[in-house]
Amino acid sequence: MRIDILTLFPQMFQSPFSAGIFQRAVDQKLVEVNLHNIRDYTHDKHHVVDDYAYGGGAGMILKPEPIFEAVGSIKSGIKEGAEGLPVILLTPQGRLFSQQIAQELSRNKHLILICGRYEGVDERVREHLVTDEISIGDYVLGGGELAAMVVVDAVVRLLPGVLGSEASPLDDSHVRGLLEYPQYTRPPVFRGWSVPEVLLSGNHAEIAKWRREQAILRTLKRRSELLDKANLGDEERQLVERLKASF
Ligand code: 6GU
Repeated sequence: MRIDILTLFPQMFQSPFSAGIFQRAVDQKLVEVNLHNIRDYTHDKHHVVDDYAYGGGAGMILKPEPIFEAVGSIKSGIKEGAEGLPVILLTPQGRLFSQQIAQELSRNKHLILICGRYEGVDERVREHLVTDEISIGDYVLGGGELAAMVVVDAVVRLLPGVLGSEASPLDDSHVRGLLEYPQYTRPPVFRGWSVPEVLLSGNHAEIAKWRREQAILRTLKRRSELLDKANLGDEERQLVERLKASF
């Protein structure tokens, strides 16, 4: 996958992208991330990227010209399918990011992300350049950069080969609409606290059953609204009803 990120602060992306599985994915050429400074696409002496809002009001608005030019320059460098490329604006007004959206984005070969800043972005960017708008939650950040990092992290770990074969993203919290079950490692007894017996039993069917139940129980206790949309079988639905009744 290739990801192009337009930002006024490319330096913000350095450390999150140079550690752990992300760095490994880059080294293995499973993903290529290109950072573009929006300021480099201005032509005036002072490299101005923002201006006052028509109609007044506090706060500066990102000008359309450098953003259109940056996206145009990225598109002109690719051979095929430039027209259909996803161009995603990170903004608190976007659709709420989720594991499902991460999965959807991970199926693309190329993404362009635009990080908004200041009080907003000229509406013509939304109307005539952007194909999608994403928010990472109902709170306001100083800019789209941290949101872009969140989106890129969630997407890249889903790309084939990025996680080792042992760690399957199919078990993650939210993948089936459930939170993940509790996990333990050695020692079997730590400060008097034991690992649940069933996990030491070697009985894989029992372990799988325990984990399903724990995932459902945990989701019910912490995020019961998730259960309505969760991908559950008949037996699991019955378990939910039994557990609900016992609260
Ligand atoms: Cl994508 N941008 C900004 N500025 N604030 C946010 C956000 C994005 N998502 C949640 N809050």
